[in-house]
Amino acid sequence: MKTQIFKVDSDNIDNTVIGKAADIIKSGGLVAFPTETVYGLGGDGLNPSASVKIYAAKGRPSDNPLILHISDLSQLSPLVSEIPENAKKLAREFWPGPLTMIFKKSDAVPKETSGGLNTVAVRFPENRIAQALIRAGGTPIAAPSANTSGRPSPTRASHVEFDLSGKIDMIIDGGACEFGLESTIVDVSGEVPCLLRPGSITLEMLREVLGRVDVDKAVVSKLDTGELPKAPGMKYTHYSPSADVVIVRGDRDKMVHKINELISQVESSLKIGVIATEENKDRYKNCEVLVIGSIKEPGTIAANLFKMLRKCDYHKIDKVFAEGLCEDELGLAIMNRLKKAAGYCIIEV
Ligand code: TXA
Ligand code: MG
Repeated sequence: MKTQIFKVDSDNIDNTVIGKAADIIKSGGLVAFPTETVYGLGGDGLNPSASVKIYAAKGRPSDNPLILHISDLSQLSPLVSEIPENAKKLAREFWPGPLTMIFKKSDAVPKETSGGLNTVAVRFPENRIAQALIRAGGTPIAAPSANTSGRPSPTRASHVEFDLSGKIDMIIDGGACEFGLESTIVDVSGEVPCLLRPGSITLEMLREVLGRVDVDKAVVSKLDTGELPKAPGMKYTHYSPSADVVIVRGDRDKMVHKINELISQVESSLKIGVIATEENKDRYKNCEVLVIGSIKEPGTIAANLFKMLRKCDYHKIDKVFAEGLCEDELGLAIMNRLKKAAGYCIIEV
């Protein structure tokens, strides 16, 4: 299959391209499109065969459900069996935006889309290209991140092209994604809301609106064998570059010292990378420094993380040391992805 790629400017959306993309969605095909979090791989969420194609293109296990993307609040109620009060509060505050909520599903959602669960994930993205596509498609769009299963989520159209070219009908290139980490997922289907995946809508922000919000264990730590996360996707290995990744965290000087010490112990034939913040970038020796952003602006780190993990592969790096962050606010989401990339290998100093 030839994958068509079109650039679209979100300030001046070319409706011819959106129309072509919408026709592909309506006829059961797949279109990758930008959102404010990461690029999504979209298909008609109410068409079971489109969902099956999504799983095949990504190489994703079919028990891992898809998020339905809507472009208007009125599209929510046909997909769910009830809209709890907590969901209304979060929608008022954070939709459109980088927040996904889990509801009890209605019969309109095919089991192929919900991965066989009786719940469904719904998100109303803010990105204008995403909204235009969902509106023109006239259907909720099922969209996982547009990467090959297991690889870092794509934050640029070039990442999607690298992973999925030849396997999908179209890629809409809308430039770099604003937030760069996948949406926050909150389960609002039970008594107490529960954070299943941290993101740019932070736990602190959710608690400010709802009061009590529980946190699924899979958000911060590796699960024991046999334990299952509430978001099925959180059980899979993720984001890992081919290189071995080790996180070093603690007091700034001790951390830099420890990373330099670890570098000196690596076999000389291996290529070493350090994922470093702007503030420490000049302090590492005998390695390639990948500058991820500024500690003073965690948003820059979130926006660059997946790009840097991909860069480790493009630069054929064998061993990566990454500076660890504090797990509050956006740090919780950044460390959740980094820990998975490192297989939870973390040295505290
Ligand atoms: O930011 C995002 O959420 C991006 C963009 C494209 O919107 N999408 C995304 O989708 O990250 P995906 O499929 O890569 O991740 C969705 C996660 C998976 O871990 C999946 O298991 C979980 O959401 N999920 C989906 N439906 C669920 C449900 N009914 N209950 C629990 N977890 C669910
Ligand atoms: Mg994903």
